[in-house]
Amino acid sequence: MTLTAVVHDAAEIVTLESSEDESTSADESEDPSREDAAADLGIYEDAAIAIEDGEVARVGPSGPVKREFPPENAVHAVDATGKSVIPGFVDPHTHALFAGDRSDEFEAKLRGKTYQEIMEDGGGILRTVRATREAGDERLLDNLLGHLDAMLAHGTTTVEIKSGYGLDTETELRMLDIIDRADDRHAVDVVATFMGAHAVPKGRDTDEYVEEVVDDQIPAVESQGIAEFCDVFCEEGVFDVEQSRRVLEAGADAGMTPKVHAEELAHIGGTQLAAEIGAASADHLLHSTEDDIAALVESDVVPVLLPGTAFGLGAAYADARAFIETGANVAIATDFNPNCYSQSMGFAAALSCVEMGMTPAESLRAATTNAAAALDLPESVGTLREGSPGDLAVLDAPSYVHVPYNFGMNTVETVLKDGEVVHRD
Ligand code: NIG
Ligand code: FE
Repeated sequence: MTLTAVVHDAAEIVTLESSEDESTSADESEDPSREDAAADLGIYEDAAIAIEDGEVARVGPSGPVKREFPPENAVHAVDATGKSVIPGFVDPHTHALFAGDRSDEFEAKLRGKTYQEIMEDGGGILRTVRATREAGDERLLDNLLGHLDAMLAHGTTTVEIKSGYGLDTETELRMLDIIDRADDRHAVDVVATFMGAHAVPKGRDTDEYVEEVVDDQIPAVESQGIAEFCDVFCEEGVFDVEQSRRVLEAGADAGMTPKVHAEELAHIGGTQLAAEIGAASADHLLHSTEDDIAALVESDVVPVLLPGTAFGLGAAYADARAFIETGANVAIATDFNPNCYSQSMGFAAALSCVEMGMTPAESLRAATTNAAAALDLPESVGTLREGSPGDLAVLDAPSYVHVPYNFGMNTVETVLKDGEVVHRD
């Protein structure tokens, strides 16, 4: 056994233990609202965490943990005096692999153009498709590794990345291959999603393109063996519910779990589709109704809310409270893409609190355990219990609340992946 790391003397360590767990110091807290949060998140104060062979071996009060696992014996000893420790963020929805720049569209949106108008003018997804098809593999890989560096520096240790800027078999496979290569090369764990049905290529009939996705792209993606999920942009003017169902069922037959971009710009029934086919997640959900929310909860589909997208579009935010009050385990994600240019889960958390009414504790759960559930990851991912992966962020702040509280700033100082120090500010 190798003692990979000991992070010690932290002001607090947030473990994301379930609320039934009695072993934390929550009862000693003086502020009642903080007590609720502590009970729910499993917070130890004046705490240490020991990681052996990449997995959490012990977490608890600093004294006993340091006696059992002396920091001087660890490969990495991190003094976290005055700082806090949280699980590494899981970002369950991004389109992080692309070429080109669309900052001019940000300005156009500020002048009042809509996302749809920008698409009609030749901008939007199809513009990124052109740039991505033209870019060489090395440029695409470099771009992606740069974005993964930014994510890691902001505390993300696991990320989902979608293809979908290829829209032909060759480029979709190329994108998935580059996503796989980035996963090998980079400390951040990457989960790949095939999204050939992200848009309809220029000049093509939608039904005919759906047949291409089903007959050509999906079989090729299946034999390539990289993508774990299949996603579709179920949206007014893009793929309707029946076209989306056809793609997702073919994807499922090829071993890819469905995910759905649902009710982002209009309400057309993507949430109900996600519930019917047992998708891992339904994402965006800006226009979901009460019935939609109930259906998701009933069928255990994780709602992934993307407040950065609403922010960038100047749109109304998803009703996070309605989801939470119906019993959903809401996840949040960055949706990092050329139309939503932020790699920061901290920013998504800040928007979740200020614009979607979530508490800081709910936003942390949404960015860790619930996000892991949206990717069908083992339950230990996004937690810091014994046996969890040693994926954590040390914040240069005394509590996890600083993640949303210190908005627009990066509170993350040091990041460990499988117990190895992979980023230090
Ligand atoms: O999730 N809505 C579809 N896909 C992305 C946007 C992609 C783009 O504009 O390039 C999203 O917001
Ligand atoms: Fe998206």
